[in-house]
Amino acid sequence: MRFTILLLICALMTGCSRHEPDQRIVLGFSQVGAESAWRQANTESIKSAAATSNIKLLFSDAEQNQENQIAAIRDFIRQRVDVIAFSPVVATGWDEVLTEARAAGIPVILTDRAVTSDPALYAGFLGSDFVEEGRKAARWLVTQFDDSMAAVHIVELRGTPGSAPATDRKRGFEEILAQHPRFHIVRSESGDFSREGGKAAMDSILKSGERPIHALYAHNDDMALGAIESLERAGLKPGVDVRIISIDAVRAAFEAMIAGKLNATVECNPLLGPQLMTSVTEVVAGRPIAKRIVVDEEAVFTADTARQLIQTRKY
Ligand code: AHR
Repeated sequence: MRFTILLLICALMTGCSRHEPDQRIVLGFSQVGAESAWRQANTESIKSAAATSNIKLLFSDAEQNQENQIAAIRDFIRQRVDVIAFSPVVATGWDEVLTEARAAGIPVILTDRAVTSDPALYAGFLGSDFVEEGRKAARWLVTQFDDSMAAVHIVELRGTPGSAPATDRKRGFEEILAQHPRFHIVRSESGDFSREGGKAAMDSILKSGERPIHALYAHNDDMALGAIESLERAGLKPGVDVRIISIDAVRAAFEAMIAGKLNATVECNPLLGPQLMTSVTEVVAGRPIAKRIVVDEEAVFTADTARQLIQTRKY
């Protein structure tokens, strides 16, 4: 009797003796940061998909710093998680830590952004085709100016330097522009994928006297929204004086399109959580996953589609 009471007290105090050990898969996930509405939707998708898949998620925010991300991955290795996933801040500089994960026998899945490392160092990469997104933006833009304009001046706001989406979205955009010689990128600045960064970059471009600006191509919606504020402050009408296209298709971009300040946005789907959890379950079961899983359903939205879809837009 006294023994049973002692056991009960121990169980209440430590929670140990009467519970089964946690049998869930443990996933260590290192996120880029919280720089944009897209990123916040992506984080939410990963957290909720882990919860519904009964996967224990160790989540770490790198605050857009590669060193933080490498430290987080090393920490996951120390904790001997079952799988590591991460969305790399930049594309280069991962060989060492990926080799360490492999030596520890922990599979790594890349989400959202690619790296330049040997694909043998990771199990698979799940994310959008950023080059194609850049092409889509350019294909739309070249239809917006009639042939009477001899030269169309474009300002480009790039994402985080060295990140896969910044490199690829530029490449895809320029690939299409090369077929349309009257379109010129007259300025290209980084806004680091954030609204404040987009505003600051556009402020400095306007302050330098850059004119005329016929079009703006921003690598994400947040930077376009920041630039819109800057253009308005300078007395220009965004969406009218300057035709604007960006990438992501978040709710705030839909609102800006309905207000006539943004003209189009290319969808980049942030809801990667469910597909990531499927891949995690597969690698833990010892089954191979595709080296490259491309996220589909990436449309180009304009004000008309924004009006129809705004009520159902979740992020
Ligand atoms: O890697 C995806 C990009 O990163 C999104 O377009 C952007 O909003 C985010 O910060």
